[in-house]
Amino acid sequence: MDSPFGLLAELTYRCPLGCAYCSNPLNMADYSDELTTGEWRRVLGEAAELGILQCHLSGGEPLLRRDLVEIVADAHDLGLYTNLVTSALGLSRPRAEQLRTAGLDHVQISIQAGDPVASDRIAGTPSFHRKIEAMGLVKELGWPLTVNVVLHRYNIDRVADVLALAEEAGADRVELASTQYYGWAWRNRDALLPSRAQLEAAEAVVRAARERLRDRTEVIYVIPDYYSRFPKPCMGGWASRQLTVTPNGDVLPCPAAQSLPLPRASVREDSLERIWAEAPVMTAFRGTDWMPEPCRSCARRELDFGGCRCQAFQLTGDAARTDPVCQYSPDHDLVDRAVEAANAASRPAGPPLIPRPHRVRR
Ligand code: SF4
Ligand code: FES
Repeated sequence: MDSPFGLLAELTYRCPLGCAYCSNPLNMADYSDELTTGEWRRVLGEAAELGILQCHLSGGEPLLRRDLVEIVADAHDLGLYTNLVTSALGLSRPRAEQLRTAGLDHVQISIQAGDPVASDRIAGTPSFHRKIEAMGLVKELGWPLTVNVVLHRYNIDRVADVLALAEEAGADRVELASTQYYGWAWRNRDALLPSRAQLEAAEAVVRAARERLRDRTEVIYVIPDYYSRFPKPCMGGWASRQLTVTPNGDVLPCPAAQSLPLPRASVREDSLERIWAEAPVMTAFRGTDWMPEPCRSCARRELDFGGCRCQAFQLTGDAARTDPVCQYSPDHDLVDRAVEAANAASRPAGPPLIPRPHRVRR
């Protein structure tokens, strides 16, 4: 067991947006007793002692935490590289300047599409223009900027617009992420899953953009795993490099693992070091000993670690099964059926998209 490299600090699940693809938990009340500033200070200190180098401050919308500047300053003083993962709603100039002074290293801004109408519709709230302004502010204050877009059936046809927007904003990195079908996104899966033709068209656009932008902007794009023959090594392997602390102090190998039937571990009850080393939520699927067939005797088992435990649980009800995305999985037909439906000629637009209800207030 190595030390973790990155901490995903989910400061709050409150959020001004209502994205139809949101993969955050649905049981918001369980997370309303948020860690205090002092508790985050202790968690960050324990993370640094554990060897963590990067801290991603996320949510929900982390800017809704009034103490965000203090949390950033604490992380910075501990020598952690800090990345703010934000919708940018609430990133006013004074707040941005305070964050700069506190030592924030990097900003990642999400956008829902490359044009205002589509972006605001997917976000469930007017936000596009404020995001563009915030991108300008981030560059003006000298931060490296990542633009993140979650791709799905409703925006993938216009991925060129997103790339153009990122280029114009001077982004250092564009992350074209595929929807993860957990939380609210699971309810919308059949509406969100793109067709193969859409993917192929998008890939051609991305390839050309990579070539054109290669000296200026890194373009990250991974094809959705429903269309892959093998799963991705989710999180680089269960509890091997990353850990997540949720707003109420629960510690998880990844954010979606909150839905798995594993005993809770909380920073309110134990140290991060002991949780990382010993808590059942961390050890349950670490390494390869837990694996069933066909993973157990598969040559790829240390490449993809059997895929995503949360996806296996979501699709089969058993987190210890081979990820159904894998072509060798006995449950692969579950993925095939979803892909067939997404490609059905009679379904050009897909079912309607349901925005997530707004979640700003407790
Ligand atoms: Fe990966 Fe398991 Fe599939 Fe082999 S059988 S490719 S280890 S998911
Ligand atoms: Fe939890 Fe893949 S998202 S293991």
